[in-house]
Amino acid sequence: MWNQDQLARTLDFAAKAHGDQRVPGSGAPYVVHLVKVATEVLRAFAETRDFDVDLAVTCALLHDSVEDAGVAPEVLAKEFGVAVAAGVSALTKDDALEKPLRMADSLKRLAVQPREVQLVKLADRVTNLEPPPPHWTRARRLAYRDEARLILDALGAAHGPLARRLGERIEAYQRFFDDVR
Ligand code: NI
Repeated sequence: MWNQDQLARTLDFAAKAHGDQRVPGSGAPYVVHLVKVATEVLRAFAETRDFDVDLAVTCALLHDSVEDAGVAPEVLAKEFGVAVAAGVSALTKDDALEKPLRMADSLKRLAVQPREVQLVKLADRVTNLEPPPPHWTRARRLAYRDEARLILDALGAAHGPLARRLGERIEAYQRFFDDVR
């Protein structure tokens, strides 16, 4: 079972860190995205019960806190410990790199993280393979799908059921190409 108090404390921290930020495309408060990713992790844990669920859920709730909310990894280390800070750092794209290089770089850093951190990336992309914003071109949708395949190839071994779920979502994403130029 997971630590309910730790989960609530992390959610409080993440909600405050992201403040008024909204989920791109939907307008929902950002915390909705974070809870969706955490829920994917809990669902994965319910299936296998073979990983440190508190580490994984904490990283899920904080996975965008450095990249999108400007929280310093040192603050995460102090509040949540070094494993969480290292995990969230690996889940953070390096904006000093050119955009096309950022995902491969993050995946390389994730490859040496524990599977609890790796599976957060799978859960994040499962969550993000929702209907794309209407203004996305066919090329952009294809690129997003291909990037999801890259994530699955790199990190799928972290959790079988979650990898299968991501594979199904990638297949289903196909329907968003059909009528688009
Ligand atoms: Ni995310």
